[in-house]
Amino acid sequence: MYSCPPEGVVGWRSPSNIALIKYWGKQPQREQLPANPSLSFTLHHAYTDMWLYWTRRTHRDDPIELQLYFEGRPADDFRKRIYDFMLRLLPEMPFLGEYAITIRTRNSFPHSAGIASSASAMSALALCLVEWKYRCHGLSFDLHQHYREVSDIARRASGSACRSIVPQVALWGAHPDVEEASDSYAIPLPKTYRDFAEQWRDLILIVDKSPKSISSSQGHALMEGHPYATTRYQQAKKHLSVLLKAMKDGDIETFGRIVEAEALTLHALMMCSPTPYMLLKPQTIDVINAIQNWRRTRDLPMYFTLDAGPNVHLLYPQTYEAEIWTFIATALPSFYYHPSRYLADEVGNGPHPLEPTMPDS
Ligand code: PMV
Repeated sequence: MYSCPPEGVVGWRSPSNIALIKYWGKQPQREQLPANPSLSFTLHHAYTDMWLYWTRRTHRDDPIELQLYFEGRPADDFRKRIYDFMLRLLPEMPFLGEYAITIRTRNSFPHSAGIASSASAMSALALCLVEWKYRCHGLSFDLHQHYREVSDIARRASGSACRSIVPQVALWGAHPDVEEASDSYAIPLPKTYRDFAEQWRDLILIVDKSPKSISSSQGHALMEGHPYATTRYQQAKKHLSVLLKAMKDGDIETFGRIVEAEALTLHALMMCSPTPYMLLKPQTIDVINAIQNWRRTRDLPMYFTLDAGPNVHLLYPQTYEAEIWTFIATALPSFYYHPSRYLADEVGNGPHPLEPTMPDS
C-alpha cells in the first residue's frame, strides 16, 4: 500500500550519453530489450532539467491528468509521448492516475541543434517517477541504491535513456565478460574503466540541424528481417569484448578503431536495411575524412563516432584540447569554429537532484 503526500514536487537533472558500442535492434516482442549489449560515455553539459509536481485532481475525464511545459510552453507531441508511457506504467504505479501532474522541462542544448534529447529527457522522467514512488511509500530515495530500478523505467521509455543514469561509463545488455550485466538496466563499470573514460572530451560538430527523416524507432524496427542482423549482433558482442580490454589496458588506438567501426557499421546497417536509407550527409563524410587525415599526419588520438544522424562526435583525450582547436580552425570549413555549430562536452558524473521548487517557466 502507498499513501502519497497530497502535493509535492521532485526535480532532476539528467545527462545525455553517447554510445560507443551501438544499440541498434531490439529483441522481438519484448518491451525495449536490446538485441545486443551497448556501452556509452555519460555526458556532462548536454542535459535535461525536469520538475514533476503533483496535486489534487481537477477532473476525471482521462485516466491520467497531465500538463507538460517544455521551455515554458505547452508541448503537445512530447506530452503525448509521456502520457502514453505513464498509461503503460499505471498498473505498477497506480498513483499516476490519482493526482494532477504538471511537468516542466528544459534542455541545456538548443532545441534545433539536431541533437537527440530522448536519453536525457526520459532518464530525467524515470528519476522523477521513481523518486515520487518512494515518497508515496514513505521511503527515502537514494540513486546509488536504486539506480537499477530507475534505469529499468528509463529503458522502457526510450532504450538508450537507461544508460544516462550511470556515471561516466555505462554498460547495458547481457554479456559473458561482465557477470552482472543485464538486458533490463545499465550498470556502472569498475574504477579502471571510469578512469579511462574520464579523460575523454566529446566535441559535437553540428553538420545538419534538420529533424531526421527516419526515427530511431523506425531504424530499430528495420533490424527485424535485416539480412545482416545475426552477424551484427555477434559483431557487437565481440566489439564490446575488445573495447573493454582496450579500456582496461589504456590502449587508445584499439579503443578508437572499435569506436569508429561501430559508428560506420550503424550507418552501413541503415544503408542495407530491407528499406534502405541514409542519414549521413556529404559534409559528414568530409568531417570524417578530415579527422582521419589529421590523425594520420599529426599522430593525434582523435576519433569520431556518430549517432543515428549526420552530426559528428569528435572524441579525444582532454590533454589534446589545444591541438584539437587548431584542427577545427585549420582543417574544417570556418563555420565550425562558430559556437552555434558545435557543442563541447565531456564525460560526466550522471544525474543529480534539483531544488524541489517548480520554476515559473
Ligand atoms: O534509444 P533509442 O531508441 O533512441 O536508440 C538509440 C540508438 C543509437 O543512438 C543510434 C545508439 C545508442 O546505443 O544510443
